[in-house]
Amino acid sequence: MDWWRQAVVYQIYPRSFADSDGDGVGDLRGVISRIPYLAALGIDAVWLSPFYPSALADGGYDVDDYRDVDPQLGTLADFDEMTAGLHARRIRVIVDIVPNHTSNRHPWFREALEAPKGSPARNRYIFRDGLGPDGAQPPSDWVSLFGGPAWARVPDGQWYLHLFAAEQPDLNWENREVRDDFTTTLRFWSDRGVDGFRVDVAHGLAKNLVEPLEPQAGMKDPIDGALPPGTHPLWDRDAVHDIYAEWRQVFNEYDPPRAGVAEAWVHPSRRPKYASPDGLGQAFNFDLLEANWNAGEFLRIITDNLSDAQRQGSSTTWVLSNHDGVRHATRYGLPPEEYRSRDNARKWLLSGGTSPRLERGPGLRRARAALLLVLALPGSAYLYQGEELGLHEVPDIPFELVQDPAHARSRGAEKGRDGCRVPLPWTPGGPSFGFGPGAAHLPQPAWFGPLSVEAQDRDPASTLVLYRQALSWRHKLQTAESMDWMPSTNGQVLHFARPGGWRCVTNFGPGPVPLPNGTVILTSVPVEGNQLPADTTAWLLSS
Ligand code: NOJ
Repeated sequence: MDWWRQAVVYQIYPRSFADSDGDGVGDLRGVISRIPYLAALGIDAVWLSPFYPSALADGGYDVDDYRDVDPQLGTLADFDEMTAGLHARRIRVIVDIVPNHTSNRHPWFREALEAPKGSPARNRYIFRDGLGPDGAQPPSDWVSLFGGPAWARVPDGQWYLHLFAAEQPDLNWENREVRDDFTTTLRFWSDRGVDGFRVDVAHGLAKNLVEPLEPQAGMKDPIDGALPPGTHPLWDRDAVHDIYAEWRQVFNEYDPPRAGVAEAWVHPSRRPKYASPDGLGQAFNFDLLEANWNAGEFLRIITDNLSDAQRQGSSTTWVLSNHDGVRHATRYGLPPEEYRSRDNARKWLLSGGTSPRLERGPGLRRARAALLLVLALPGSAYLYQGEELGLHEVPDIPFELVQDPAHARSRGAEKGRDGCRVPLPWTPGGPSFGFGPGAAHLPQPAWFGPLSVEAQDRDPASTLVLYRQALSWRHKLQTAESMDWMPSTNGQVLHFARPGGWRCVTNFGPGPVPLPNGTVILTSVPVEGNQLPADTTAWLLSS
């Protein structure tokens, strides 16, 4: 059985996990120092967000060199030591590959800037002449995902495409040299013992840039299914799968084959292609990142994703939080109509977290219930660092300290994603709550102290202890990738059984419901008597 099919993968955002040298930025030796913590948590794998050399125009997703470690984060020798240390504790290692764009400091891009129009160096990227008599207008009116124009002009007057920040020029994947360089990178890390790859913007590599370029206004969102599949000029084109077929051959050169997981923001019906055994093998299911705390929504998402994955021969993934979105304890503590749409979540962040009012307690209670629910499902679960501490989003980072390029590029219309990237608290006090010997690169709020690892470590009611207990039970109970809904499932309650007698029941509220028969082994909050309170999950064994 492929190890990743039902693995629990813990996402480390390295610059905010643990800082060994006091420069305020987390590093690989910081990760090494916390291997015992990761082992005690009970995870199966870590996924490290980029640790490569980078000027941090986009938190490391602007890569200068795909085959090295940023000097601020360590060395390749540190990487090898970290991998060996994790493997010794039976924790696999997944690294992040960023193929849609390099950074503007990558040697290829520097060379492209020096080289003339039409040169092979420019052909590794997407350069075009501008419109208008003197070419002063961009080649199209496309808008970057971080706001502002998606084209930037270089001194000789040409323009290059950047679907993200201007410091992230898009690569030309029709160029054989680009393709070969990435397979070299995949082998480089695989040879060092890396077990898998998380593929950034996996749906963006193949583009149709035949002129005239389509105007932005006509370019419907491919995710909502408004377009015939595969017809958007920039996203989710069928040709992208030729690239992953090549990558699969590389993955299969190794024993066990290296794993892949696609970050593909595509219509759910298109996800299975990325997750195909001939492609990357697995694709993120982000549906729960956007869902309300609501039995009906969870039911639909679970049912759809399990059947899609089964059809494709893959296993699905469950994601409640990651480094790009508002933490789920916070989402579940905002009034549903407010956090439902991106606009309202954005407003809450822009208000510094003051409006609408966040109900921290109920949000965390629901987050704990959601965790037990997703951990009981077939498939793999991706956890994001800090969720095991029950951390909420930090909404009040002063605007002048915000690092996310989405903030500046949107001219302040977005607060950005820093609020879920604040360095972790390890101790109740100290200069950065134990993150490192010095101050942290983003300010940590005072409420981090009581939520630190040390404060929660031995508290049986803590979220950290709940995570450890849940992961330990999951290891014992995890079984074939199937589940059956129980008859008591309804508009308020989700109740399902896994082979071997493991059952999970979640009450989404508003009132208590009778606990089903069976031996209760774990609950998301203490439960007394035979009623399951609102916003609570229980795991049971059939008696
Ligand atoms: C997705 C990553 O998760 C995000 O953090 C990044 O900004 C974009 N891709 C661009 O690389």
